[in-house]
Amino acid sequence: MDRNGIFAGDDPFAIARAWLAEAEPQEPNDPNAIALATVDADGMPNARMVLLKEIEADAFVFYTNYGSKKGQEIAASGKAAFVLHWKSLRRQIRVRGLTEREEGPQADEYYASRNLKSRLGAWASRQSEPLVSRTALMAEVAKVTVEQGPIPKRPPFWGGIRIRPLEIEFWADGQFRLHDRFRWTRDGTAAPWQITRLNP
Ligand SMILES: Cc1cc2nc3c(=O)[nH]c(=O)nc-3n(C[C@H](O)[C@H](O)[C@H](O)COP(=O)(O)O)c2cc1C
Repeated sequence: MDRNGIFAGDDPFAIARAWLAEAEPQEPNDPNAIALATVDADGMPNARMVLLKEIEADAFVFYTNYGSKKGQEIAASGKAAFVLHWKSLRRQIRVRGLTEREEGPQADEYYASRNLKSRLGAWASRQSEPLVSRTALMAEVAKVTVEQGPIPKRPPFWGGIRIRPLEIEFWADGQFRLHDRFRWTRDGTAAPWQITRLNP
């Protein structure tokens, strides 16, 4: 299989990191934004943007409120998918995998690295629940600001979600819609990768 250039290598996470590093100086905003897909109990899909915060040796991590719609859907299904798309590079990476929570020291560290107002915002927002008014939200922010003090702890309902992929597809735009696609699949999160070239 002639898998060379931007598709070369034995480690799909290294390829993902390299593509993101290439996109970073070119994208106007949030080169790490991913469209995250989940399904509800009826199999009805749901998608929204989140920020991909870590590409680990064998997984991807983003942060959110565990009580949010996505948090609940992931808790119930244990699965998620996402796509990372860069208009500047005309490339996408598609990922499907199994989820787990990251709510240990790694989540504490990321939470602590955020702006104080964002840390307090995480405490104040019951993400995805109905909100009466902006005023009510700001009152909640004022309340948690007093309660939590200058060094708030990470809320127990907020942290990381790690996606351990079973499938990763690297896609790059080709002339006349003859795109290049390589799909990496594995039977389990500890199994070896199989690589297949796909039709555009
Ligand atoms: C570019 C972008 C980045 C976002 N990043 C995050 C994020 O990292 N975590 C998060 O919880 N929500 C993020 N959001 C908000 C989500 O899209 C969404 O509105 C929210 O998480 C509630 O989704 P849910 O009701 O499906 O749980 C982001 C939105 C945009 C447009």
